[in-house]
Amino acid sequence: MPVDLEKILRPIDRPMAPYPPKHVTLASGDDMVVRQVGRDDIPKILPHVAPLMYVERDFYDCVAARVYAELLAYYRHRVQDEYVLIAQVDGELCAIVNGRMVDEKVGMSLHTLALRRGLRIGAHAFAAKMEYHMDILGQEEVLVVAESPIGFRRWMIEYDLEKRFDIPHELGGVPSYALTRELFERARGTLVIGRRPVPEALLSKAMEEILPPSDPPRPPDDLLAATRSQYDPTGTALMLQRWVEEGKVKA
Ligand SMILES: CC(C)(COP(=O)(O)OP(=O)(O)OC[C@H]1O[C@@H](n2cnc3c(N)ncnc32)[C@H](O)[C@@H]1OP(=O)(O)O)[C@@H](O)C(=O)NCCC(=O)NCCS
Repeated sequence: MPVDLEKILRPIDRPMAPYPPKHVTLASGDDMVVRQVGRDDIPKILPHVAPLMYVERDFYDCVAARVYAELLAYYRHRVQDEYVLIAQVDGELCAIVNGRMVDEKVGMSLHTLALRRGLRIGAHAFAAKMEYHMDILGQEEVLVVAESPIGFRRWMIEYDLEKRFDIPHELGGVPSYALTRELFERARGTLVIGRRPVPEALLSKAMEEILPPSDPPRPPDDLLAATRSQYDPTGTALMLQRWVEEGKVKA
């Protein structure tokens, strides 16, 4: 008897209420829309994640590689109960956040990726994701980890997250922290902000097209400087690599 393997490989998502879009006024005065995207939107987003895999600064490389895999898995039905929210200013992609339901009560925060820096866009996008778990999905707590010092400052410290070190997080098995309902309520109105409904013109601009980020994080022009600041104070590794490429020394 033939077996339809796809039926076995493809998980069946639980029904999840949609995230109602909201808008947030940024410190720059820009009005940012945060909205949910579906599977069909993923191919439009992936090309803006891929270049970040080569940006070492602030762990963009590690986070972007994981986000790419999670978004692709969502698109190709290889992950269960995932959702993706994006933030846009004038249609331009500014942040991507995603997560999952572990069960009815517990949520798993996956990633937050800011594609425009310095305006707390990532912080607002993360807050929207917590709002989704708490207000829309009605969950009791969300498991969170940080991969970068900025992430740790933004989530663990700003929300004063509780330790759940007995629970390995899905991101690398590292010990989890948790946003509880009580912590979420404490953050409402300060860290968790935004208005609904989104004005018609603003929402249709966002829905029309996901425009590329105009000033995304990029790798440094001078790789030597980056190497110096990170792991190699003398820059020797990079100079050697250049000499090998130029044929001056043998590898
Ligand atoms: C963590 C993250 C989502 C936070 O986004 P954010 O809230 O928009 O904050 P930014 O990254 O823009 O800024 C963080 C700090 O770096 C500074 N900064 C870094 N690069 C900057 C830039 N190009 N322009 C201005 N400020 C910059 C900011 O001043 C800010 O300082 P503050 O905390 O005192 O306000 C974002 O840094 C990011 O995507 N990092 C890479 C991936 C990552 O670590 N994700 C979280 C994994 S759990």
